[in-house]
Amino acid sequence: MPAMHQAVALSAFGPPEVLHWVKQPVPEPGPGEALVAVEAIGVNFADTMVRRGEYRRDQPLSFTPGFEVVGRVLEAPDGGPAPGTRVAVFTDDGGGYAETVAEPLRRVCTVPDDVPATVAATLLVSGVTAWYAVHRFGQVQPGEAVLVHAAAGSLGATSIQLVRAAGGRPIATASTAAKLEVARRHGAEVSLLSEPETLADRVRQATGGQGADVVVDGVGGPLFAPSMRALAFGGRYVIAGAAAQQPGTLDTRGLMPRTQTIAGFVVARVAARDPAEPQAAFDAVLDLHRRGLLVPDVTIIGRDDLVAAHHSIEGRRHVGKLVVDLRA
Ligand SMILES: NC(=O)c1ccc[n+]([C@@H]2O[C@H](COP(=O)([O-])OP(=O)(O)OC[C@H]3O[C@@H](n4cnc5c(N)ncnc54)[C@H](OP(=O)(O)O)[C@@H]3O)[C@@H](O)[C@H]2O)c1
Repeated sequence: MPAMHQAVALSAFGPPEVLHWVKQPVPEPGPGEALVAVEAIGVNFADTMVRRGEYRRDQPLSFTPGFEVVGRVLEAPDGGPAPGTRVAVFTDDGGGYAETVAEPLRRVCTVPDDVPATVAATLLVSGVTAWYAVHRFGQVQPGEAVLVHAAAGSLGATSIQLVRAAGGRPIATASTAAKLEVARRHGAEVSLLSEPETLADRVRQATGGQGADVVVDGVGGPLFAPSMRALAFGGRYVIAGAAAQQPGTLDTRGLMPRTQTIAGFVVARVAARDPAEPQAAFDAVLDLHRRGLLVPDVTIIGRDDLVAAHHSIEGRRHVGKLVVDLRA
């Protein structure tokens, strides 16, 4: 095994141009950790926040960003996957923008060999997050109307398909007509521009006055209050992200007469407390993919395209998931 590998090391927070590949020692797996040779890296919205120094206040420098990878096991402790097994790994503390990662077994999910690494990388963070939003917290039932924001983004496009697969009726929002077209391609029944002033009325119109039974919200900020007004009696509001990077406001008194609940979650925190996760949700997502009910929207890029990828995410230009293929 080589002693050195390539990884992105941030020596300063700042614009995408601070992302540089450098040569570093291969990480040393600790007790209970697997060492994985990375094939594909999922680029996440949160990576851009990490890069700007806005994700965690205790973020040290130098630091390697990246929350998910797919690769092959190089070595694993007893009870872990055999060397050569394809795995998808949550690199919850960062470190994913690298050719090799060392992570505890509870963050390592096995991937069937017939699922390409780049596809698995679109299904791990986005797939498991969407699964939690739609099923674990949203409890979507057949026939229910589900409002999904940023529906052409990675979480949104995956959520639309999961709602469809559960027999729900997805209502998509996005900022442009082109993105709404993407959402319709993924199965959105109704597609609405994400204009906060009129959003609640348009959702009520689209649902015969009832409102949405569930909201899957990865944006928040200006969309939060109108989406709450669009929530039906007994509705469940799931806060899965905050892409707007602004607070939303809520008059909590409205929840009581309408018997509504609000849940928020971070996959890594849920998984850390639930030993059966994340493999269980990932398996459910893989099963939907195998049955043709979840088609990943993936753009494959090279390692030198990371700077452009971060610009694209911050400029709201991309659709679906951006995945770095390290073998390219
Ligand atoms: N809870 C969890 O564990 C978890 C896991 C994964 C992701 N997330 C979060 O979920 C959110 C969506 O993730 P994702 O992977 O789907 O991201 P993504 O593919 O980059 O999509 C984000 C979308 O948010 C919308 N948006 C609204 N305001 C924005 C702004 N100020 N800047 C950039 N985009 C803005 C854009 O869609 P429009 O142009 O259509 O508005 C954009 O395409 C993020 O906040 C992410 O951190 C949470």
